Amino acid sequence: MFERELATTAAAMVAPGKGILAIDESGGTIKKRFDSIKLESTVENRRAYRDLLITAKDLSQFISGMILYDETIKQATRDGTPFPEVLKKNGILAGIKVDTGAKDLAGAPGEKVTEGLDGLRERLAGYKKMGATFAKWRAVITIGKDIPGDYCIAANAHALARYAALCQEAGIVPIVEPEVLMDGNHTLERCFDVTENTLRALFHELGAQRVRIEHTILKASMVVAGKDCPQQADVRQVAAATIQCLKRTVPAALPGIVFLSGGQSDELATAHLNAMNATGAALPWPLSFSYGRALQAPALKTWKGQAANVAAAQKALHHRSKLNSAACFGRYKPEMEKEALAA
Ligand code: 13P
Repeated sequence: MFERELATTAAAMVAPGKGILAIDESGGTIKKRFDSIKLESTVENRRAYRDLLITAKDLSQFISGMILYDETIKQATRDGTPFPEVLKKNGILAGIKVDTGAKDLAGAPGEKVTEGLDGLRERLAGYKKMGATFAKWRAVITIGKDIPGDYCIAANAHALARYAALCQEAGIVPIVEPEVLMDGNHTLERCFDVTENTLRALFHELGAQRVRIEHTILKASMVVAGKDCPQQADVRQVAAATIQCLKRTVPAALPGIVFLSGGQSDELATAHLNAMNATGAALPWPLSFSYGRALQAPALKTWKGQAANVAAAQKALHHRSKLNSAACFGRYKPEMEKEALAA
C-alpha cells in the first residue's frame, strides 16, 4: 500500500539542496524559546510566530518540508487559511511530530523512553486528512556514567520501529530520530560508540518490524564531543567521525539522512553539514538538514514578538535556509554569512 506515494514523498524530502525546517516545539520547549526574547507563550503568540515561518516567501528552493506540532497543524493564518494549505501552495510538504515526549524510563535512572504509541493509528489517519505527508518521532539517548544501557537503546528502538510501521501503513513517511544528546563532558569517541550502538539497534528493529527502509528518513545527531568536554573536536573531525559512524550502521537503501542541530550554533551546524558534503566521497544517501534552533535562531531574535519585524525575520530565515542549502552541496563559505547581512 502507498508504495509510490511514500517513495515520492521521501525523495521530495531530501531533494538535492533541500532540507527540513523543524517548527514542532512542544508547549514546554516553545516557552523556553519565547523566554529568550521575553515573550509570553500564548496561543496567539505561538500562532503568529509559526505564521511568520510558514508564510515566508521563496523558501521552497531550500526547504522541502516543515515539521509541525499538533497545535500548529490545526491553526491558520489571520485570514483563516489553514497552515497545511499555505505550505502546499508554497510547494512545501507538511510534516507532523507525533510522539508525546520523552518520559523517565522505569528502572533506568537518568534515561528516557519516548511515548505516543497508544491511539497512534487513529491520530495518523487524522493528520493525513489535515494534509500531513510525513511524521517525526524523537527518541532521546543520554550519555553519562554507565548510561545509556542496552535496555534504554532497545526500548527506544522498539518504539521508533512501531511508530514507523504505523506511519507507512497510513501512507506517511516516518522520520526516525534517535537523538544522542550533546549534554555532558564525554569525548567524541564516546559519542561515536553510543551513536553506533543506537543506530545499529534502530535499523535492526526497523527490519524486524517490517519497516521499509526505502520509505524511511533518518534524522541523526552528529558525532560530537559533549558540550562540557574540554577537548572539542574541529569541524573536519566531526564530519569525518559522523560519516564513518553512518557508513557502519545505515543501510544504503535509505533515501536520505537529515541532521538535527541539537544545540549547536547556527553557523557551526551549517559548517558541519558543509564539511560532510565537501569531502567529495560518494555516499549512498544525501546528507541534509532538519534543524530547529539552527534555522530559526536568527528569525526568532529578529522578530522579538513584534509585527513590525515580521518581514526582517522572514528574510533572516530565508538567508539561513539558503546557507544550509549551499551546505548540502558543500558550497557554503563563512564569508556568505556577511554577504547576507550586507544584502
Ligand atoms: P534542533 O535542530 O533544535 O535540535 O531541533 C531539531 C528537532 O526537531 C529535534 O527533534
